[in-house]
Amino acid sequence: MSEKFYITTPIFYVNDKPHIGHAFTMIASDTLARSHRLAKQPTFFLTGTDEHGAKIVKAAEKSGLSVQKFTDTISDKFKELTRILNLSNDYFIRTADQQIHWPGVFQIWKTLEEKGDLYKGEYEGLYCVGHEAFLKKSDLKDGVCPDHLTEPEKIKEENYFFKLTKYKSDLKKAYEKGEIKIKPEGRLNEVFAMLEDLEDISFSRPAKDLKWGIDVPNDPNHKIYVWADALTNYLSAIGYGRNEEWKKWWPADAHVIGKDILKFHALIWPAMLLSVGLALPKNIFVHGFITVEGQKMSKTVGNVVDPITLVEKYGLDPVRYFLLREIPSGEDGDFSEEKLRQRYQSDLANGLGNLAQRVLTLIDNNLGGEINYLKRFEKSEVKEFIKSTEEKYRRHIEEFKLHEALANVFEIIGFANAYTNEHKPWELAVPVPKLNGPFGTKGRLDGAAGAKATSELGRPDHFLEVMTNLTLLITTTAFWIYPFLPETGEKVLESFGLSLQDKLENLDHQKLVIKKGEGLFPRLN
Ligand code: MSP
Repeated sequence: MSEKFYITTPIFYVNDKPHIGHAFTMIASDTLARSHRLAKQPTFFLTGTDEHGAKIVKAAEKSGLSVQKFTDTISDKFKELTRILNLSNDYFIRTADQQIHWPGVFQIWKTLEEKGDLYKGEYEGLYCVGHEAFLKKSDLKDGVCPDHLTEPEKIKEENYFFKLTKYKSDLKKAYEKGEIKIKPEGRLNEVFAMLEDLEDISFSRPAKDLKWGIDVPNDPNHKIYVWADALTNYLSAIGYGRNEEWKKWWPADAHVIGKDILKFHALIWPAMLLSVGLALPKNIFVHGFITVEGQKMSKTVGNVVDPITLVEKYGLDPVRYFLLREIPSGEDGDFSEEKLRQRYQSDLANGLGNLAQRVLTLIDNNLGGEINYLKRFEKSEVKEFIKSTEEKYRRHIEEFKLHEALANVFEIIGFANAYTNEHKPWELAVPVPKLNGPFGTKGRLDGAAGAKATSELGRPDHFLEVMTNLTLLITTTAFWIYPFLPETGEKVLESFGLSLQDKLENLDHQKLVIKKGEGLFPRLN
């Protein structure tokens, strides 16, 4: 494990309010950030908004607001989403922030120039505003961009070009040697294919056509290409161009991105870094796209899912759970409210929620609400199952197979349920009767049952052993599920008198006073 972990989301265009696809990118990144923090690795998690370019100008014009006002409003919506999704981001960058972001962009540009990697040239091409990129004729379908269903603009203009082709062989080597890892690995082939097709790339737009952007240093007739500006956020946010703080975090350990922006992150960004002489990012985690009931999300179809409405309706952790479990990290996945409800009911309410409540009730009713955790009661079959499942769980997180890591968490829940059914702790228990007389104190019993059960030594060991193992299984689940469902993980730990700071390995002779609450996942209406 490296000494630090720097993870980023893409920065989101502020042309429209956030949708569930954006929420997914955010939640997947947050899960990784939390997982590394839980392992005590110093972590920096960055997200933010991408605010320049023609796409934003067009959207602002349509709204009737000034570009600045429009940008502020939508950026605030993304910021609000980070709060609603309980993101643990350390910073939220805005590319329109002239104090924080721009100095880094100027520095990158000047260095590219000093390296002789920028040159002026005439460009003739087809510009897709949706992509903020030039497309090739072969990219089009029936004359329109297949992703945005719009006809690209025919543009002929003088631009600065970046010598992307100069870095072809260095990039190839970086991927062959695994200096940059693409995960899941299957996507690496796409990178090699794109490398074969490399061309120098236009890195500016004429200021007369694009007013909203960052000026090319010493040439106000040109604005820096929005992707060159945007990619630099990964450095500017941590201080590049302003102070030396960035050296503490760079290189990024993980850029989390959707499959549509692979080329920018796998080729253009690393080439820029090679040119300015900075280290390459270690991992690029690529996720697929969310469709809605089998269809691509689109305003025209009217099926755009608002993550905030969903969270209001189902609560945050069920939404996080659905996305992380149902959208396989490497591929596309489908959203439907029906499926979310099913997952809620079967996995969360009947699976995790029931197990936790069952164990807490047994402790409450039969042990007076506390369990003295004794390591010697931990069974090797339970510990071994946890150990082998943990290896898979950790490997899946490392490989960015978050849905599979979550499935591993549920293997523990399945094991705990089977263990409960096998050992039937309710048959082994000596119940603690409810005491209500004037002399009643919690745990005081009468008669034969009392003689057997008042002191811990007198309790049947088998019951305590089973409860210890169930406590171990459910608290292990809580720790593992925490990066995915932070609130749920913490709630389960708290109900066992534990916190994230505790270490299960060190639990021995510790009295856990349980708090049995309302249950984690109430019945859906
Ligand atoms: N601004 C650029 C990124 C610049 S990073 C230096 C951008 N913005 S975006 O708002 O269009 O997309 C942000 C992220 O959301 C991307 O990772 C994109 O893949 C993701 N998603 C957008 N729609 C999506 C789905 N329908 N499903 C899953 N993720 C999708 O690209």
